[in-house]
Order: sequence, then C-alpha cells, then structure tokens
Amino acid sequence: MVAVNRQWCIARRPEGSASEDDFAWQETPVPGVAEGQALVRNLFLSIDPTNRPWMWEKDTYLPAQNLGQPMRGVCIGRVEQSANPKFPVGCHVSGLFGWQDYTVIDSQMRVNRLPDDPSIPLTMHFGLFGHIGIPAYFGVLEIGRAKAGETLVVSGAAGAVGSLAGQIGKITGCRVIGIAGTADKCRWITDTLGFDAAIDYRTESVADRLDALCPDGIDVYFDNVGGPMLETVLDRMKVHGRIALCGAISQYNHADVSDFEPGPRNLFLMVTKRLRMEGFLSSDYVPRAREAIDALAGWYREGRIQYRLHVIDGLEQAPTALGMLFDGTNQGKLIVRIA
Ligand SMILES: NC(=O)c1ccc[n+]([C@@H]2O[C@H](COP(=O)([O-])OP(=O)(O)OC[C@H]3O[C@@H](n4cnc5c(N)ncnc54)[C@H](OP(=O)(O)O)[C@@H]3O)[C@@H](O)[C@H]2O)c1
Repeated sequence: MVAVNRQWCIARRPEGSASEDDFAWQETPVPGVAEGQALVRNLFLSIDPTNRPWMWEKDTYLPAQNLGQPMRGVCIGRVEQSANPKFPVGCHVSGLFGWQDYTVIDSQMRVNRLPDDPSIPLTMHFGLFGHIGIPAYFGVLEIGRAKAGETLVVSGAAGAVGSLAGQIGKITGCRVIGIAGTADKCRWITDTLGFDAAIDYRTESVADRLDALCPDGIDVYFDNVGGPMLETVLDRMKVHGRIALCGAISQYNHADVSDFEPGPRNLFLMVTKRLRMEGFLSSDYVPRAREAIDALAGWYREGRIQYRLHVIDGLEQAPTALGMLFDGTNQGKLIVRIA
C-alpha cells in the first residue's frame, strides 16, 4: 500500500490539446473511512476522448469540473477498507473514481460492484462489457438499425468503440467500410477484423474513396469523429439512411463552437433523403446493459469479435495517455494501470 494518495488535478483549462502542464500532481494523505463508506484502491483508469470535454469550463452531459479538483475518470478498483456491508473488503468496483490512487465511496455514489468471476479480466468491465461495448452494440443495432445486406460506414474505425461497431456490423451481415488514420490501422481492420474495406483519411480522399466503394450510397453511418468527415459521409447517404452519432472527437479540443472544425453544411439532405441522425450515450442503456453484454460475451467466446487493449503503466502517465487519443497513437482501448 502506498502511503499517500497521488492525484492529478486540473490546473487550468487547456487551449487545444491537453498537455501535462494543464494538470497538477498532488500527494495527499490516504483518506480514512467513516460509517457507510469504503476505501477503494484504484487499479485501472480508463482514458477516454470524453475526458477532454470534461475539462471545458462549461457543462457537457456531466457538470463542468472545478480547477484544482482531481480529474474525473472511470476506474476499476478493489475495496481495501470498509464500513459499508455493500462493499466488503476485497470486492471489485467501478465508477467515476478519478485520476488518483484512492477514492472513498458510499451508497449515494454511482458504484458498480463487479462480479467475482476470475475468468473475466477486470479491464473487460470498462471495455467490451462497459462504456465501450455497450454504445457500439446499441449504436449499430438500435440507433443505426443496421440490417443484413446494408452498407455501414464507421469512422474512428480502428479505435475501441469503432472496431467493435464494425465487427457488430459484420456479424449482422452488413458490408462494412472503416475510416481510420494510418495504413497499419486500415490493414488491421480489414485483414484481422474482416471489414470489407478501409479508408486512410490522412492519406486518401474520403470523398473519392467512398464514391468508389459505395456507388449506391450508405445506409448507416456510425460516427465517432464529427466535423468535415460527417459532412462528407452525409453527402453519400441513401434515402432513409441512419446516422448514429456516438462521438465527435474532431471537436473535443475546443470548448467554443467558433473554434470547431466546420460541421455539416449539408443538413438539408436530412430532408430530401429523409435521413435520421441521433446521438446517444452509453449511460442511456444502463437498464439494458445485460442485453449487450450477453451478446458481446457470446460473440467473444465464439471468436467472432476481437478486442484490443493498449495499457500504459503508471498514474504519472495519465496526461500523456490522454494526448494519445488525439494524435491517434493508441492502438485499442486505452487504459492506465495504476496498481
Ligand atoms: N456515446 C457514448 O456513450 C460513447 C462512449 C465511448 C466513446 N464514445 C466516443 O466514441 C469515439 C471513440 O472513442 P474511443 O474510446 O473508442 O477512442 P479510440 O477510438 O480508441 O481513440 C480515439 C481515436 O480517434 C481518432 N481521432 C483522433 N482525432 C481525430 C480527428 N480529428 N479526426 C479523426 N479521427 C480522430 C484516432 O484514431 P485515428 O488514428 O484513426 O485518427 C484515435 O485513435 C469518441 O468520439 C468518443 O467520445 C462515445
């Protein structure tokens, strides 16, 4: 047990990409527990694109964080001391425990007690079976209403959510085209994951390649990127196509809309082509999470979906890890191993 609680706190609002200078490293005493509380030793921290908008001065789908506060983050940890029978010592839990070694939890907080099943690696609970797998599943099947024989385009296709979304599309019987940022990533999604085609948006014209690959148009777009790429895909949607807005990573480095990369100017197509575009959050689906987890677990056991983790060692590395999501150097679900 380390004697102090190491924390990354928000030091200032970043301009553009976040860097280590936007955070302050702090060492405080390990907190004690009062009646009804438990002390969690954080083991894994999920690094997510949404961490960057969480640093904005304005609210997102969660309230803005104050400067000086430990950075918000989803963790998996083990209960080390307990004065709450719901969280006995030794059980594993997940929740918004922050970029720190220790967190005090109580029954008022949203805490998930994880199943005691040694056959499931802990990290699966915020990856395949958590806030990555769940939006991929419902985004493709429910928001996107993807059906066999349709053409599904996925952006951020080699990332954690995108790689699953594309594979779920393949299992559904779609023709799947992924858009990703390097030749290696494009090879991985086609050669290993079985996507039908890939577009390297950094070296190829997405518009020209989509025209060649989808001459009859696109039925479903699973969008992780937003901005100009969304405009390009919108132009090529079929009548009654569906766009599932999972994320807009191209816009997260700016809090002010006037600094955003331009978004779609062609929204009139929504009318002429009778399109449906809908955003969603994995938290919307908490009551139905079991449905997604059972399906994903079955496909995973059968070897029909693959899922890769990118693990960085040490809480010290958390700010650097966050930057990797924005320069594209992460290769799969990005996780910091705290302990
Ligand atoms: N709605 C929800 O509940 C929910 C839940 C989880 C995640 N999300 C969203 O899903 C998306 C993917 O998240 P993830 O956790 O799976 O991360 P990820 O895809 O594993 O990592 C982010 C990737 O985004 C790509 N990227 C970064 N900046 C870009 C830009 N300007 N244009 C195009 N691509 C860019 C990079 O890949 P390249 O090398 O390909 O550029 C990078 O590897 C994000 O938008 C995130 O906010 C939504």
